[in-house]
Amino acid sequence: MHAMRISEYGGPEVMSWTELPDPVPGPGEVLVRLGVAGVNYMDVGVRTGRAPGWSLPAIPGVEGVGYVTALGDGVQGLAIGDRVAWYYHQGSYAQHLAVPAESLVRVPADVPDETAAAVMMQGLTANHLTTETYPIEPGVTAVVHAAAGGVGLVLTQLIKVRGGTVIGVVSREEKVPVAKEAGADHVIVSSGGGFEDRVRELTGGEGAHVVYDGGGAATFRSSLSALRRHGVHAFYGPLMGVPTLTPAELPNSVLLSHPLVRDHVPDRAALLARTAEVFDLVGKGRLRPVIGARHPLAEAARAHADLESRRTVGKLLLLP
Ligand SMILES: NC(=O)c1ccc[n+]([C@@H]2O[C@H](COP(=O)([O-])OP(=O)(O)OC[C@H]3O[C@@H](n4cnc5c(N)ncnc54)[C@H](OP(=O)(O)O)[C@@H]3O)[C@@H](O)[C@H]2O)c1
Repeated sequence: MHAMRISEYGGPEVMSWTELPDPVPGPGEVLVRLGVAGVNYMDVGVRTGRAPGWSLPAIPGVEGVGYVTALGDGVQGLAIGDRVAWYYHQGSYAQHLAVPAESLVRVPADVPDETAAAVMMQGLTANHLTTETYPIEPGVTAVVHAAAGGVGLVLTQLIKVRGGTVIGVVSREEKVPVAKEAGADHVIVSSGGGFEDRVRELTGGEGAHVVYDGGGAATFRSSLSALRRHGVHAFYGPLMGVPTLTPAELPNSVLLSHPLVRDHVPDRAALLARTAEVFDLVGKGRLRPVIGARHPLAEAARAHADLESRRTVGKLLLLP
């Protein structure tokens, strides 16, 4: 089988299409033939050596959908041919992979492969942000950074489903209609800081209840300034850069949070419950992930280069 492998950190070109022995499932593992792998910004962090918990050589990618082709000892409840999805399993840019059975969920029949792959990491993250990090309810105004991106579009849709108002931020004019189509009430074009005055204008001078900020250090200070008193700054994009500050610099009694999707999905029961919530929203047509581009797995470097250029919208997928 072939996989995308990196043996040194660097640009997209360090990923090489490598022939490797087919993996053999160990006890408790399942061999899966990849159907579609999702691209996440985290994969760029892995490739550049900024993502914690990875070592070289590595096969990037943490999510996908595929088909069970063999069962390791002790696996119960899954059969050959089952369609399964996973998130946060390292090494998903591969034609075949051995995945612990406890990391797999069955995909409902009404959810196509590509849709399922698109909502594993980004759907669970947006679900976390709109429930546990800041429970969205009618009357809440949320700022969503990279509102035409993978997490951003799902986040926008989930905020609208839960009755909130969305002020999206995108870096380019051409992304405005994409964010609006997902339900954003207002869209600001900005590629770093400097959007806080416009947020204040749009909120009658009050500021937003919550800012979902995946933009790292560049957007951090303006996000704080865009909040109302006691607002919540959900800083969820540390791979884009981490600012330095002391607690006394936090204005207006705002609350600073660093949400990690793994805390939303700490165990198997949560994985089953959370993915069921997201698949249910998809099944009811309330969450419609936007597939921005599909690339052959062997050309994953193109997907990474595009993602880093900030020209992409929605979810990028890799097909084996
Ligand atoms: N905390 C967690 O558990 C968790 C889980 C999943 C994802 N994340 C984070 O969520 C963020 C979005 O991830 P995603 O996979 O959905 O990616 P994405 O939003 O599809 O793509 C990244 C977007 O971020 C914006 N951006 C700002 N600065 C950038 C830069 N220096 N390089 C590239 N893009 C930049 C771009 O939108 P504009 O050009 O429109 O600004 C770009 O389209 C990332 O920070 C990721 O690490 C965190």
